[in-house]
Amino acid sequence: MQQTLVIGNWKMHGTLSWSQKIMETLVGELAGISEKVGIAVCPAYIHMETVSRALSKPECFIRFGAQNVHTKEEGAFTGEISATMLSDLGATFVIVGHSERREAGETDKAIAEKFKVTQTNGLVPVLCLGESLVQREHGETEQVVLNQLDAVIFECGIDALSDSIIAYEPIWAIGTGKTASADQAQTVHRCIRDHLAEKNEVVAKTVKIIYGGSVNSTNAKELFDQADIDGGLVGGASLKAEEFISICKIADY
Ligand code: 13P
Repeated sequence: MQQTLVIGNWKMHGTLSWSQKIMETLVGELAGISEKVGIAVCPAYIHMETVSRALSKPECFIRFGAQNVHTKEEGAFTGEISATMLSDLGATFVIVGHSERREAGETDKAIAEKFKVTQTNGLVPVLCLGESLVQREHGETEQVVLNQLDAVIFECGIDALSDSIIAYEPIWAIGTGKTASADQAQTVHRCIRDHLAEKNEVVAKTVKIIYGGSVNSTNAKELFDQADIDGGLVGGASLKAEEFISICKIADY
């Protein structure tokens, strides 16, 4: 069964009481959704335990993840959080290489290391790839996205991609309300899959490639209908319970 994956990236938003409230709503309202949809939220580290508790009922299949991780498993790294700690807390996913972190100086090498340490600890990396507006206007989209992907393949090997999620997130569509058209997104998703297929056809077929960038309940259907779009990484719209629930329900078709 092909599962559509909807992951909410809460970024640096929310309070403890807000996290608790939205999780109660999500757990209640999404209880009847079918297994055709995979759902997860990625709160700030400090809100994770609250989220984890809200998801602790045995029948609840919503999962949670982190927005970042340190490259090392342990050590004197003040203020950092390790994959071992995330695994201990029951996380499933780790967003790796989000453009908001790349823009803050995260290198391809660090991203590959984070990808590796995430998998070593039994977690699933959600590897973000995406071009800026200038790069798109210069016709560099595919080259930029594939270079970001190749940096991880170089360090971790193509087989590692089979236990990961790829998220195509064009930077110009993040938080701008300017979604990539379904055609634009599909073209890049296809290109990513074709590139993987040149190295390993099984990985190309099985890896989930989700789209992020102003996904909402109005554009989700058209995006999810595309052959190579396997779900969404949702920012702003995941902070509104009703919107996020609608997007999850749209994915349930
Ligand atoms: P928005 O949905 O707010 O554009 O954010 C997308 C994103 O960056 C998810 O990781």
